[in-house]
Amino acid sequence: MKRSEINRYIQEAEALFAKQCFYLPPFAHWTPQDWKTKSRDEVDEILACNLGWDVTDFGSGDYKKAGLFLFTIRNAVLNSPKYPKPYAEKIMISLENQVTLMHYHAHKTEDIINRGGGRLAFRLYNSTPDGKLDDSTVYVSRDGVKTAVQSGEMFSIGNGESITLTPGLYHEFWALKGYGPVMIGEVSAVNDDHTDNFFLNPLQRFPTVEEDEDPYRLIVGDYNALPF
Ligand SMILES: [Fe+2]
Repeated sequence: MKRSEINRYIQEAEALFAKQCFYLPPFAHWTPQDWKTKSRDEVDEILACNLGWDVTDFGSGDYKKAGLFLFTIRNAVLNSPKYPKPYAEKIMISLENQVTLMHYHAHKTEDIINRGGGRLAFRLYNSTPDGKLDDSTVYVSRDGVKTAVQSGEMFSIGNGESITLTPGLYHEFWALKGYGPVMIGEVSAVNDDHTDNFFLNPLQRFPTVEEDEDPYRLIVGDYNALPF
């Protein structure tokens, strides 16, 4: 992805979060210059837990078709005594028909919440022991109500509604066309994007960035290039 696109998507996300009256923590607003004034010790938790801005096209080359905009607000490191929180929280944005591609988590249970905007569509499948799609009926908790869904059947949730995705449950989601983008909340167990995402078709979770202008904000993929 081009840096200029990433910058633009972050600015559009800031506008949407403001419209929805969703407020981000202070480090969301740090500029690359602000980062240079920090020490490793001060920001170690942000870096170790991969908190912050995260934009991905899943390596598709077409962000509007396959992609997701994320900001990780809180998280921990699996099995780490230093950052042992058992929970994580993200705020995300899906554009109309912009798909977060089919995947499951082996460790993480996550509630995916429609926090505002349009309608959020899903397709779910159970997984087989060897990680393929299973065609059995899916039983999913929708805000505490056990609900049967046919494998691969599309359904959508409105503002305030959520579903609970348990380990091994394949899911893909997108903002339903005609209703506008969705601001999505995620409340979950600890998130590890390097080891706990199992996509049906292998893909690239973090984009390769083409630097065509200066960064407006650092994204998690930029943290490795920090001088500390
Ligand atoms: Fe997921």
